[in-house]
Amino acid sequence: MTTTVAPVRLAVIPGDGVGPEVVAATVPVLQRAAEGTGLDLQVTELDWGGERFLREGAAMPADAADVVRAHDAVLFGAVGRPDVPDDELVWGLIIGLRQQLDLAVNVRPVHAFPGVPTRVVDTDGVDLVIVRENTEGEYVGAGGLAHAGTGHDIGIEVAVHSRRVIERAARHAFELAGRRSGRLSLVTKSNAMRHGYPLWDRVVREVAEQHPDVELEVVLVDAMAARLVQSPRSLDVLLAGNLFGDILSDLAAVLAGGMGMAPSANVLPGGDVPGIYEPVHGSAPDIAGRGVANPVACLLSGALLLEDLGHTVAATGIRQAVSAALLDPTHHTPDLGGSATTTDLAAAVLDRMEI
Ligand SMILES: NC(=O)c1ccc[n+]([C@@H]2O[C@H](COP(=O)([O-])OP(=O)(O)OC[C@H]3O[C@@H](n4cnc5c(N)ncnc54)[C@H](O)[C@@H]3O)[C@@H](O)[C@H]2O)c1
Repeated sequence: MTTTVAPVRLAVIPGDGVGPEVVAATVPVLQRAAEGTGLDLQVTELDWGGERFLREGAAMPADAADVVRAHDAVLFGAVGRPDVPDDELVWGLIIGLRQQLDLAVNVRPVHAFPGVPTRVVDTDGVDLVIVRENTEGEYVGAGGLAHAGTGHDIGIEVAVHSRRVIERAARHAFELAGRRSGRLSLVTKSNAMRHGYPLWDRVVREVAEQHPDVELEVVLVDAMAARLVQSPRSLDVLLAGNLFGDILSDLAAVLAGGMGMAPSANVLPGGDVPGIYEPVHGSAPDIAGRGVANPVACLLSGALLLEDLGHTVAATGIRQAVSAALLDPTHHTPDLGGSATTTDLAAAVLDRMEI
């Protein structure tokens, strides 16, 4: 009897700046992983992003969410260009898609690969995951501008934290912690913010009762910032709201070598919605167009994508090849202190694919 594995319909959005460079380095690696494991990977490229905004007035089409739903997963590079207001592109594409598709959590693993230099001493063995709430909090988009243009303008940014959304992020974090070390750190700021974060603390403690296998601690975000640098190995899974998760994951990325090393997955756990997989970094206009962006964050995002679709062997093959390539400093890009180009590092990864 022959079994047929359903093809994977992959949408690819290179986007802006270094986005197209790291995505172009990643797609051949995904294709190699697919070939090596008998997977039919069907890639459709979408031209969404800053250029489309300048051409057509919108970074993505009105039916973008439906286009995404017609695929199994999305690989996204980055959005943002200096000649377009940032919120037009960030909201017009990635934050918009996270909200429209209700992609509840942004999972951001941080893994210190052997051989990769960092600016923080003693990061050997760091391996943690930040689970960031992805649709509400400080990034919900509620607020306005009062007294606009009067000289005493008032910007009002309203943070929204709902029980339903906290609960679903918490359930995902507890399940992940249960599969890992059994330790979960909730990051809030309930000493200074008196409404939303105390609700987080209460709801997450309620969810904890259904997960007696997981040990929960609650840490204030300022203390967590220091602890991430001072004793990162004391941490395993972190659960945070949208803003704190965003900021802490850039800090945590430095433990693994910097922004070029940090992958992420936007997913609705248990939901029938394609995930969007993207490097944590943005379009990096300061280095875009020079061919020196580190492709590892995007490569590892591709591995997360395959893993979430159940193709574990293909995902592991990519991670092992990345790890092997990084052992040799001649493959390091300038952010890691080397002089390799994006394509040099990607080629070294391809050479080391053993599947
Ligand atoms: N999800 C997204 O698309 C996303 C996320 C963050 C920022 N942005 C946008 O990106 C633009 C630039 O933002 P920023 O400068 O604050 O953040 P950034 O992540 O683009 O860059 C921060 C620093 O990290 C470096 N860096 C980033 N990616 C790298 C890589 N792959 N290899 C080597 N070095 C890398 C950059 O050179 C820069 O010094 C802005 O328009 C911002 O809104 C988009």
